[in-house]
Amino acid sequence: MTEPKLSEDIKKVVEKWRNKKGSLVMILHEIQNAYGYVPRETSLELSKYLDVPLAQIYEVITFYNYFKLEKPGTHRIAVCMGTACYLKGAPVILQELKELLDVEEGHNTKDGLFALDVVRCLGCCGLAPVMMIDSKVYGKVKKEEIMNILSEYGKEE
Ligand code: FES
Repeated sequence: MTEPKLSEDIKKVVEKWRNKKGSLVMILHEIQNAYGYVPRETSLELSKYLDVPLAQIYEVITFYNYFKLEKPGTHRIAVCMGTACYLKGAPVILQELKELLDVEEGHNTKDGLFALDVVRCLGCCGLAPVMMIDSKVYGKVKKEEIMNILSEYGKEE
């Protein structure tokens, strides 16, 4: 997706929600849905159009962890830390991913290839420990397999 042509896009969204209850959250939702995150320049524009302090916009963004401030990585890795996965070794899987990718949870790798997230139960506890990359589920994951899995998505050793 191309970067937002900020002013025109923001104007349209703002006009749609202006004077409605909870409009700031709804506007931010639309931006997040369109671009996968809320770019800083967009927050600045929004602050001007709505005449709302930037700090207030960031308060909303950081309150709901649904909103992201970073452009998402190309491939999203979701490591399940639900009870079943946790007990079957998910912390080891997460640690290995962090080390191999040199990234902390909730962030993107430096090359932007992966985003690493932790989730609660992916609904396939019988396969614990489970992780997902984009829409593909990996069950009974072993630490030794992770590098191979990542290489399917272009990660080089
Ligand atoms: S706890 Fe991990 S899939 Fe349910």
